[in-house]
Amino acid sequence: MVAAVILGSATVLCAQQRVPLDPLHTVGVESCAECHEEVVETWERSAHARSYEYLAKSEAAAKIAEILGMSPASIMNNASCVRCHYTQEAFSGVSQTTAGVSCESCHGSADQWIDQHNRKSLAPRERADVAMSHGMNHPCSIVLVSQDCYECHVIDDEQLVNKAGHPALSEGFEILSWYSGETRHNFLVQKPGRSVKSNSDQLQSLPRERQRMLYLTGKLLHLSQSLKAMSIAHDPPVDRDGKFIKLPNGKYTFAVQHSIQVRKLLDEIRSLQAILGIPEFSKALAIGSGLIFSTGQQRQFAEASDRIRSLAREFCDKNDGSQFAGIDPIIAKLKPRFSSAVVTN
Ligand code: HEC
Ligand code: HEC
Ligand code: HEC
Ligand code: HEC
Repeated sequence: MVAAVILGSATVLCAQQRVPLDPLHTVGVESCAECHEEVVETWERSAHARSYEYLAKSEAAAKIAEILGMSPASIMNNASCVRCHYTQEAFSGVSQTTAGVSCESCHGSADQWIDQHNRKSLAPRERADVAMSHGMNHPCSIVLVSQDCYECHVIDDEQLVNKAGHPALSEGFEILSWYSGETRHNFLVQKPGRSVKSNSDQLQSLPRERQRMLYLTGKLLHLSQSLKAMSIAHDPPVDRDGKFIKLPNGKYTFAVQHSIQVRKLLDEIRSLQAILGIPEFSKALAIGSGLIFSTGQQRQFAEASDRIRSLAREFCDKNDGSQFAGIDPIIAKLKPRFSSAVVTN
């Protein structure tokens, strides 16, 4: 009850925005550490984990909070920041911030699936289905396990960007390269005769087919999420003289940054399509070419976003990546993403 009250009063989100994890349903990183020690150690070195220590104390965060009329001390508890920066758990009904971006930020709140996803008595497919029906973002679905990246890295709050100067997006975000650096934590191996995978102490490489699927599905999910951001934009992008407005940080407004990203993604999808001839990509391009890039088109962008998300699911369901060797030269050029120098206070 208490946690619900605290969350409810902190911020009002619209239906298109990422919702924070419900602290009443999270179990925290410690609960995963028991069986996924190597994963947790890897995660601890990532910016996702480390930001817990530095983000709220930074000058940049204080400035954003101030402009939004929040006290800097509330950053780690206010849902308008927590939903992308932190993980909360409930203790005796009171929510506490216990980590930065953590396991459950990407895999889903785990209280309902933690005891299900590893049940030896079930066949692997059944095990995954049971876990997913209890809210797990299971890696057997690339869409499920990738969609959260875009919900956070494509910022969906116009005033946070236009008014408070928060980044609108992560410059250069691309899922395969951004997963392949400090974020990667593939330690499970299937041993012959075992029904359940077990831990290796070595980081496993991603099979080529999997890399292709992450890369290609990611393009559709990215496009969908950027369109969703455009669907919540209301501020005018141009001034009275018809010139694009620049924010004090020198960037264009929320809507313009996302629309530039949409056009860039459509261009990328067009060139991939020329190599691979994927039906879902040609449908996405048809939707893209019908878009009117102007104000007052929120519905259009929301609908396009939903349709492209469905195409991502269809694409994923139908393909295993084996037929997309044509993009290997592109994938080979991607650089695994590591965060810039460790930030210290
Ligand atoms: C009691 C041990 C145990 C705990 C606790 C546990 N896991 Fe697991 N997890 C496993 C085992 C065993 C597997 C391999 C299951 C299989 O082969 O399908 C696994 C698999 C996974 C997978 C990959 C599924 C696949 O087959 O690709 C993910 C993701 C995962 N766990 C996440 C988590 C997270 C997040 C937590 C904490 C909220 C957690 N686990 C807690 C034992 C555990
Ligand atoms: C929709 C998700 C989202 C929300 C909501 C959000 N952030 Fe962020 N924030 C991010 C992401 C993603 C980054 C990393 C951006 C990048 O890659 O440059 C970030 C980066 C930052 C940075 C570093 C900025 C810089 O210039 O390097 C600060 C500070 C920050 N956020 C503060 C906040 C505060 C304070 C709030 C709440 C008022 C907040 N954020 C809400 C997703 C979000
Ligand atoms: C930034 C998002 C993100 C975070 C944070 C995250 N994961 Fe994952 N996790 C993924 C993705 C994406 C995959 C699928 C990778 C692939 O394609 O094989 C995955 C895969 C896994 C797997 C299966 C790996 C394998 O060997 O096949 C396990 C187990 C797992 N995660 C556990 C965890 C645990 C435990 C934590 C917290 C310490 C965690 N994850 C944090 C996104 C995340
Ligand atoms: C809950 C929100 C959230 C989710 C989900 C999420 N991220 Fe992040 N990610 C962030 C924030 C916030 C930062 C910035 C952290 C900081 O430095 O303060 C970040 C930073 C990163 C960085 C470090 C970038 C740099 O150069 O500093 C990488 C790499 C990254 N994310 C990859 C991913 C991938 C890949 C996924 C999905 C598998 C993902 N993230 C999912 C919020 C999220």
